[in-house]
Amino acid sequence: MTAQGAYPATRLRRTRRHAWSRALVSEQAITASDLIWPVFVQEGTNKRSAVESMPGVFRLSIDLLVKEAARANKLGIPAIALFPAVEPKLKTLKAEESYNPKNLVCRAVAAVKKAVPELGIICDVALDPYTTHGHDGIVKEGDVDNDATLAVLVKQAVAQAKAGCDIVAPSDMMDGRVGVIRAALDDADFNEVSILSYAAKYASAFYGPFREAVGSAQSFGKADKRTYQMDPSNAAEALREVALDIAEGADFVMVKPGLPYLDIIASVKQRFSIPVFAYQVSGEYAMLKATAEKNWLDYDKAMMESLLAMKRAGASAIFTYAALEVAAVLSKSSTAACT
Ligand code: PBG
Repeated sequence: MTAQGAYPATRLRRTRRHAWSRALVSEQAITASDLIWPVFVQEGTNKRSAVESMPGVFRLSIDLLVKEAARANKLGIPAIALFPAVEPKLKTLKAEESYNPKNLVCRAVAAVKKAVPELGIICDVALDPYTTHGHDGIVKEGDVDNDATLAVLVKQAVAQAKAGCDIVAPSDMMDGRVGVIRAALDDADFNEVSILSYAAKYASAFYGPFREAVGSAQSFGKADKRTYQMDPSNAAEALREVALDIAEGADFVMVKPGLPYLDIIASVKQRFSIPVFAYQVSGEYAMLKATAEKNWLDYDKAMMESLLAMKRAGASAIFTYAALEVAAVLSKSSTAACT
């Protein structure tokens, strides 16, 4: 007699045979409520300009952003994340525009909050859209100066909170930023504003298209961000980053990019009881779009599979430029299932 549990008594294909049995044993599903939509904002009215390296992604003026935010909310997307394409004339060495209460991001936050108050708004805290060189911080003697940068990040975060932002998301990778931002928010009476820390943010080639979108690439030249973003070969260090950020007061932590770092998502999820978010970054999105344009793969399926992988690894929410697209597909298939 064959041992129990082994073939032929056990046949795992039995549960895979029918759509209904596959549905019953399915361990994960992507829903609109897992998605966060990163959006690029630009000056002007009724302006919508394509980001060439990210097919289907546009920089939107605030009036159009408000309309799209309402659509996101209708589709069940809980939150959006705003990234400004700052006019070159406003970029400086000290990034003063980053904490101007009337800057593009602050105006966008206020407009979206007014029109769609139930939609969560996340703002990036980092100086790269505002510096002439495209680095995330203040450069002194050829290096990004940690503590000089902290002083500016704090002002940026408070300005965003004042504008009505729900979550500030430091993506700059300076040491100690979560703690000083938490203290500054609390001092300014914003203890209800949350911090999503980009705790494990890698120095990744997959950010290329994003830098085109916000215009931080051309000024960036040959410099790179390896003195502050993490080395892609490191995993243990990501856990130290997460532990520090939790101790400093982070409410959520991010792993970024997403698909190339599933191991990091999984180990953060296992090790800490804090919600982990994943960022499917611009290059990941661009790869899927580019292959789809060549008809080399089925875009909807490949996108869903990528998102599912991040969720299976332990992500409780995923930043994706495809959020609207994916939510629209999901809402169609759920009506189809009901009919
Ligand atoms: C900058 C920032 C970057 C992204 C989000 N915030 C780029 C960078 O670090 O150069 C990348 C997002 C993406 O590639 O989609 N603080």
